Amino acid sequence: MSRKTTLFHACLCACLCAGLLAASSCSQGPQNSGKAIYLDESKPLEERIEDALSRMTLEEKVKILHAQSKFSSAGVPRLGIPELWCTDGPHGIRPEVLWDEWEQAGWTNDSCVAFPALTCLAATWSEEVSALYGKSIGEEARYREKDVLLGPGVNIYRTPLNGRNFEYMGEDPYLASKMVVPYIQEVQKNGVAACVKHYALNNQEALRHEYDAVVDDRTLNEIYLPAFKAAVQEGGAWSIMGSYNLYKGQHVCHNQWLLNDILKGEWGFDGAVISDWGGCHDSDEAIVGGLDLEFGTWTDGLTMGATSGYDSYHLADAYLERLRDGRASEEVLNDKVRRVLRLIFRTAMCQDKPFGSLCSPEHYAAARRIGNEGIVLLKNDCSVLPVKASAKKILVVGENAIKMMTVGGGSSSLKVQREVSPLEGIKAAAGEGVEVVYERGYVGDVSGDYNGVVTGQDLSEKRSAGKLIADACAQAADADIVIFVGGLNKASHQDCEDSDRFGLELPYAQDAVIEALAEVNPNLAVVIVSGNAVAMPWVNKVNAIVEAWYGGSESGNALADVLFGKVNPSGKLPFTFPARLEDNGAHALKAYDPHSRTANYSEGIFVGYRWAQKQGIKPLFAFGHGLSYTEFSYSDACAKRKSMSENGKLTVKTTVTNTGSVAGKEVVQLYISDRECSLERPVMELKGFKKIYLEPGQSKEVSFVIEPDMLKFYDPQLSGWKLEKGLFTAHIGSSSEDIRCSVNFEVK
Ligand code: BGC
Repeated sequence: MSRKTTLFHACLCACLCAGLLAASSCSQGPQNSGKAIYLDESKPLEERIEDALSRMTLEEKVKILHAQSKFSSAGVPRLGIPELWCTDGPHGIRPEVLWDEWEQAGWTNDSCVAFPALTCLAATWSEEVSALYGKSIGEEARYREKDVLLGPGVNIYRTPLNGRNFEYMGEDPYLASKMVVPYIQEVQKNGVAACVKHYALNNQEALRHEYDAVVDDRTLNEIYLPAFKAAVQEGGAWSIMGSYNLYKGQHVCHNQWLLNDILKGEWGFDGAVISDWGGCHDSDEAIVGGLDLEFGTWTDGLTMGATSGYDSYHLADAYLERLRDGRASEEVLNDKVRRVLRLIFRTAMCQDKPFGSLCSPEHYAAARRIGNEGIVLLKNDCSVLPVKASAKKILVVGENAIKMMTVGGGSSSLKVQREVSPLEGIKAAAGEGVEVVYERGYVGDVSGDYNGVVTGQDLSEKRSAGKLIADACAQAADADIVIFVGGLNKASHQDCEDSDRFGLELPYAQDAVIEALAEVNPNLAVVIVSGNAVAMPWVNKVNAIVEAWYGGSESGNALADVLFGKVNPSGKLPFTFPARLEDNGAHALKAYDPHSRTANYSEGIFVGYRWAQKQGIKPLFAFGHGLSYTEFSYSDACAKRKSMSENGKLTVKTTVTNTGSVAGKEVVQLYISDRECSLERPVMELKGFKKIYLEPGQSKEVSFVIEPDMLKFYDPQLSGWKLEKGLFTAHIGSSSEDIRCSVNFEVK
């Protein structure tokens, strides 16, 4: 039994015994000195909460509403109610930091498995893989005795410049909604709460504490809220994190509309709202504005991270004062306390939970599988990939082939037990007798530390940019295949929290390296490691392109599996790769301004492919795109009936056949067009997907059930969802730009 659990059990036994012998000696609460129902797990949760609440003093109630250290809040020691411990999230379990500081605590037993970034998970388009992710990371969190995992993130991909897109699940509300639910459910089976973040409208990092998101109700409801709603209502998330930005001029961590009206009111969320670290700014607003647990506030009179400022938190002494002099109501207080108790009872105080596991072979296997299924083959002309068995010399070029990517990027930074780099993965897959040569090609970010976790890699390089290219090209000339591994990294203004990218271009003049290699050797595969779309001015000069994402501990192995054909790629893009920044709605309308304190979401619902299709813009790579080493054919779509009533259902079907010579997986996607509507609707919207496995020559029937809810739009006049009669089209395809069959139907 672990230290924390042992302590908890000891305390629990002591309290129970004392409760039996002398009712008031241990559980001396303000009103209730009877039998401790709150400790009895056989009793209904709400009864236990009421019992605990009735025993707590005013001071104890306020005490559990704010942090006591960087990542923990106090329990109620007198009652044996344990502390609550949080951890980042969302790709692995963050190493321990000092009590009051961000610096490392210096533990030697807090290394973890890094799972691929959430963009990679979203690119698997597999709910089963999402469940595996949640189970695995939940077990790691549980083993490390964490109660709240700060993740997953589901902010919609509005601009490719957002430094934090890699922590989210792409541009489509339906895809993100489907993918987030199993992650949460499986994490929580470990007695660890998911804390879904960052609710809401945190779609850029520039001025993240200051910008006010100005968005219309339809856009809010159709694009930016659905994944959070699914997380709460279908995933049953036990906590949610308020975001840093503002909405309607009010910080979101204490926001009447988003927290009280929508989350707790409309959606019936019964969990706790946790502030993002330092996201709470005002006691009076925080008290009435729906915040339950305050973390990370930089308090007045203290410098960043100075010790013991916790009593000065907005929901600490300032709250007590207001309660004592009647400015704050005890009813509101009790609602917060109930929510935090509910969270503690579900997690820290839950006795019926597994013990978890850390760095297990199963977790490494899970990390590799998630990578395998999420890596996207964007282009593969002349069958450059998979690497031929006859290849005798493989040239690997690029900093990202060797750079550790699990350190950096902000709060998702990890301390891993191991990380297999792309170069190591390629060497292992190539095996004996194949010469694998490495050339740097360019110099990007040579640093490698985050809050005291250091990669220990020496990436210093003395050669000039020209010499690096010349050396790489010299090796490329007689290579059987050249694999360039570049992209972005976790440094500031790349894929990193607290800053946005400056542009869509690849940094560090990588374009020049790629162009030079393409001239020397047509057998070139470009692998992009990133969490964001990048411009590819060389797209027509390069035969093979792979999006590998941030793969975590097993990144190199997962990538090599795909490059060498051990795994047939089946990932599909969870967001559009625009050819130019101006092809993205927010940028076309100049609605994204990193220097403005107002973020006008003027493109409205036309985010990602919705914008590209409305404008007739051909993306560089479309939402839902991803190739395979085999081919899939689709039969015509059919529906038994061609009409449905307002509360009916309709099934559409197609048969998919693997017409190639290797087994593979295809993500069959359903999009729906509303052809007659009183409001403008997107050309089509994703409303279903299924990932199927097919042996060569095998066929499978894939069917989708269309229900009225899937056809509705948010009508701002009604402040609600509306289904209008008329003509619709169901499209089934391999991507949003590769529709293979369609069928019209009418809603009567
Ligand atoms: C981030 C959160 C994170 C928190 C704690 C904040 O800066 O925005 O995502 O969970 O820090 O590290």
